[in-house]
Amino acid sequence: MIPGIEGIVTVSYIGATILFILALGGLSNPETARRGNLYGIIGMSLALVAAIAGAVTANYALLIASLVIGGSIGLVLAQRVRMTQMPELVAILHSLVGLAAVLVGFANFLGHSVVRPEEVSIHLIETYVGILIGAVTLSGSVIAFGKLSGKISGKPLILPARHALNLLLLAVVIWFGYQFVAHAESGGGLMPLLIMTGIALLFGIHMVMAIGGADMPVVISMLNSYSGWAASATGFMLNNDLLIVTGALVGSSGAILSYIMCRAMNRKFLSVIAGGFGTDGGGAAPTASAEPQGEVQSVDAAETAALLLDAKDVVIVPGYGMAVAQAQHVVNDITKFLREKHIKVRFAIHPVAGRMPGHMNVLLAEAKVPYDIVFEMDEINEDFPDVDVSVVIGANDIVNPSAEEDANSPIAGMPVLQVWKGKTTIVLKRSMATGYAGVENPLFFKDNTRMLFGDAKKSLDAVLKALRDTASR
Ligand code: TAP
Repeated sequence: MIPGIEGIVTVSYIGATILFILALGGLSNPETARRGNLYGIIGMSLALVAAIAGAVTANYALLIASLVIGGSIGLVLAQRVRMTQMPELVAILHSLVGLAAVLVGFANFLGHSVVRPEEVSIHLIETYVGILIGAVTLSGSVIAFGKLSGKISGKPLILPARHALNLLLLAVVIWFGYQFVAHAESGGGLMPLLIMTGIALLFGIHMVMAIGGADMPVVISMLNSYSGWAASATGFMLNNDLLIVTGALVGSSGAILSYIMCRAMNRKFLSVIAGGFGTDGGGAAPTASAEPQGEVQSVDAAETAALLLDAKDVVIVPGYGMAVAQAQHVVNDITKFLREKHIKVRFAIHPVAGRMPGHMNVLLAEAKVPYDIVFEMDEINEDFPDVDVSVVIGANDIVNPSAEEDANSPIAGMPVLQVWKGKTTIVLKRSMATGYAGVENPLFFKDNTRMLFGDAKKSLDAVLKALRDTASR
């Protein structure tokens, strides 16, 4: 450590902590999110410089080389990743936090870090718990990455007697924890630590494999929370106050987000962990018990434009397909056009629309859609009976009436946007394929629904052209 720098490091840590709290506050609202991000960047830069300056190492060259390599990989990945791949990136980054906790734990144990005799037991418990949380986060996040990127099926893998198996694993982990603390000082700690790490890795895999497609939003925020606690545990192992506080901030905000997600989907946290909600990772095959019957009614761009120009009150419901098609800019152009014609246009955002929390808000903000016409589900759902035209852009599960009408549906009980209660609904999608949860959608077969098939961006470009042509006649 640079001599005499301790005081400056402590003050910088306090400054960074305050900046992280301000960052979280800023991120709670789209209007202040940019500022929140800036606070986070400054806080993290300050934390990095202070941690390097205060590091107990003589080998600065290795430290800085690792930082440059890690930082460059992060920069390239973040630049290359498409908006629709963001959840996968977040999942794999969580796994790295877990890996770091495991590695720090083992390094700490094998390096025989110096601790006061009265603190030995607590230090061993910190190490054990840190590696445990880290290993669960690591393997769970890798599986979440696989499911989100479609490399692993979204179908829940339900093993027989899985709850009993989980309880048994927990009991075994506690027993090995006792063995570890009892024998660590006499040199017998490594084996229990290795066995527990193996069990924790298997537990992480089992836990996320058992969770169905429709519950993935909760899993992402839950793993986010775990990664925070893993970082916090690393902070305890390294005696680093900033890491403890920052980890706790991430851990608790992730836990709150998981709670909000569960409420939005009308799910109990424990039943999410128990798994099985939603049937598949999306695809064309019908999977729900009751397959909707009937014919769908297709429209073209010109008919869609005519319906929109006839309307007084229009609600746009964006979903994952809008992100895939990158249709947000043309959506904004259509919104501007309609508002200039004195047609009321609002956006309805479902809490789990897209593939990550706030996904739709980010896209709409990028396209400069005014914030005051963007509404959360609870703020707008009651208005649908008065809406003339609802335009569903690449959304599926979040507008599925079977969540409310079919008690046997795999997504029964999940609150959805009740577009079918409006006068006319236009659904933009490419085919009759199911959404992420793999559940058939009876909305497409309703009398007041019209399907505009095709890529959302191409369809909306054609709708905008038709609107302009009609206006110039
Ligand atoms: P989904 O139910 O996944 O439906 C998206 C629809 O977009 C698909 O049916 C697809 O149909 C269509 N689509 C895809 N590409 C398109 C394109 N280029 N142009 C037009 N349409 C396109 O999406 P949603 O309604 O937004 O619901 C989100 C789902 O993801 C929920 O089940 C939620 O639980 C889950 N999930 C959410 C999160 C978070 S945190 N938001 C995280 C993980 C999972 P076609 O293939 O026929 O075009």
